[in-house]
Amino acid sequence: MNIAIDGPAGAGKSTIAKKLAKDLGYIYVDTGAMYRAMALYFLEQGISASDEAAVSAAADGIDISIRYEGGQQQVLLNGTDVNGKIRREEVGNMASVTSAYPAVRKKLVLLQQKIAKTADVIMDGRDIGTCVLPDAEVKIYLTASSLTRAKRRYGELAEKGEECDLYSIRRDIEERDYRDMHRKLSPLRQADDAVLVDSSELGIDEVVEEILKICRERQ
Ligand code: DC
Repeated sequence: MNIAIDGPAGAGKSTIAKKLAKDLGYIYVDTGAMYRAMALYFLEQGISASDEAAVSAAADGIDISIRYEGGQQQVLLNGTDVNGKIRREEVGNMASVTSAYPAVRKKLVLLQQKIAKTADVIMDGRDIGTCVLPDAEVKIYLTASSLTRAKRRYGELAEKGEECDLYSIRRDIEERDYRDMHRKLSPLRQADDAVLVDSSELGIDEVVEEILKICRERQ
């Protein structure tokens, strides 16, 4: 069985998917990390996000792969683990822009489909239920209001002692939502057969329980 979880940035997809993978004994595949690893390469090479030809040529030439260490997904960029470098806002914003290009999507979608063929997976992203795994047995569209998502992000940054401002975080989130939902190729949208789960008023365990219930019904 494959489980697809899509939704906007900050809705809690990876936290929920990791817990579900543990409970169900599935492999968790974080596809956003792959787009981020490519974006990191473009940033490090000084390639402009708006230069589609340069981004596409670079995407063709690089190698992205994943491996698991102690159950944790590691993303390898040309053979080097880049997990520690891809969580910065700058990388997320670059990934949101460059993921709109066909050359980037084609390469990563193929890789994701190959991984899903080898094991039962819980895969999260933006286009998993609509494009990567259209036959997934369970499809979830996990969302939350932009204010809730901004408050969660604010809490995470404040905990790390990073200076931040709730309103600029919310504005960034809304801009990213807009880009992810309005690009031409595989925009973020709820698949027709996906179940909508709004986590604005729910705790992590409640969301996990709700999705487990859906999985049990489908099995
Ligand atoms: O989930 P995330 O924040 O790590 O994703 C970073 C960006 O990558 C996101 O803004 C859009 C892109 N992305 C995508 O286009 N398709 C996916 N399946 C996953 C991520």
